[in-house]
Amino acid sequence: MSTSPLVIWHPYTHASLDPAPIKISRAEGVYLYADDGRRFLDAISSWWVNLHGHAHPAIAAAVAEQLRKLEHVIFAGFTHEPAEELACRLGSLLPASLSHIFFSDDGSTAVEVALKMAAQYWRNIGMPGKRRIVALEHANHGDTVGAMAVSAESVFTDAFRDMTFPVLRAHSAYCFRCPVGRRRSECDIDCVGHLAQILERHDSEIAAVIVEPLLQGAGGMIVHPLEFLQRIRDLCTQHDVLLIADEVLTGFGRTGRMFACGLAGVIPDMMCLSKGLTGGFLPLGATVCQARIYEAFLGADRSRTFFHGHSYSGNPLACAAANASLRIFESEPVFSRIEGIALGHERRLHFFRSHPAVADVRAIGTVAALELKATDSGYLSSLRGCLSEFFLNRGILLRPLGNVLYLLPPYVITQGELDFVYDTIEQALGSLPKQ
Ligand SMILES: Cc1ncc(COP(=O)(O)O)c(C=O)c1O
Repeated sequence: MSTSPLVIWHPYTHASLDPAPIKISRAEGVYLYADDGRRFLDAISSWWVNLHGHAHPAIAAAVAEQLRKLEHVIFAGFTHEPAEELACRLGSLLPASLSHIFFSDDGSTAVEVALKMAAQYWRNIGMPGKRRIVALEHANHGDTVGAMAVSAESVFTDAFRDMTFPVLRAHSAYCFRCPVGRRRSECDIDCVGHLAQILERHDSEIAAVIVEPLLQGAGGMIVHPLEFLQRIRDLCTQHDVLLIADEVLTGFGRTGRMFACGLAGVIPDMMCLSKGLTGGFLPLGATVCQARIYEAFLGADRSRTFFHGHSYSGNPLACAAANASLRIFESEPVFSRIEGIALGHERRLHFFRSHPAVADVRAIGTVAALELKATDSGYLSSLRGCLSEFFLNRGILLRPLGNVLYLLPPYVITQGELDFVYDTIEQALGSLPKQ
């Protein structure tokens, strides 16, 4: 028997080109502490999951307490208090019509559930022809095969395109690179006309439209006007097509409201949740839906069952973490912190609007992004590696999406810490060769 350890294969990492991973031994608040004594300010909330700071004692205590009572139980045929409490808490935060919840493991599985639920919904109500999905350009909905299918074609999905199902692709309201050549000041959300045409032609075959509401994340932190989402909602209603809002990134305060849909006054038919759901402590996904969808799976016929589940569906530890995170929204001034971050972004972003290295500046709630001028734009831009290294060397974790540098900090970041990140960004951009 070999005694050598297995080689760990890290996500989104090219083992021969990327630097060796940094070993983290503990974390607290906005800081990650490395084995070798270094400290990093986590300015991207560890892949957008952390809300209230690392190792928040209230969430840690809730998970520890749950661990001593019930670590896990099969979720088919059984239930438990943490899941029921979470259903109750989310019920009080979501619009009343989003009344049913299905648990899964992470963001990708929350999306898979929504896609499968949408397809089977139409089949169960006797409209099996409605199976196609419409997704947006620049979308990113995760890395499992169904979630990849609805994600935009990119370097992330190129190797697998023939394994995914075809989708109808509609324009995104990427105002800086307007797909219909308009300027925001003079447009009437003309880009949504493309989706309108698709629905006009194909609505009898379309099960659902899936969107990242107001903020497309991995596609480049693209911020949409509120009206774009509102118009999509109206079109879906008009054409009797389900609207799936993937709030995996935007949920739990990121855009300044509990949910991005709330900011636009839009109620989707289904919503996908994950990432910040547990405050960033444990993996958990959830797909919430309207009653009419749930009811389509009832009746005397067993073949109407939603045959989907995961070994760890509704894990009690993850639900306990989620409940504790939602309690923090009540016991701590979370929304005033969020507002403070948004104001901090506004205060500092001003400078970058006329910076020679910056092509576009975008912000929504706690998220701010600088699209940098680059000769090689896109995820594989050489700016990504050199900027990441620049920031790590100065004690900051920032991971640009190619030439898009963004901040997405835990809500407990102070104005001083935010200023330190922005001061370092100013230095970084000052050090770049002219594009
Ligand atoms: C909007 C959105 N949906 C889904 C996912 C996939 O989530 P996960 O990485 O937890 O599978 C992501 C991940 O970044 C995301 O941003």
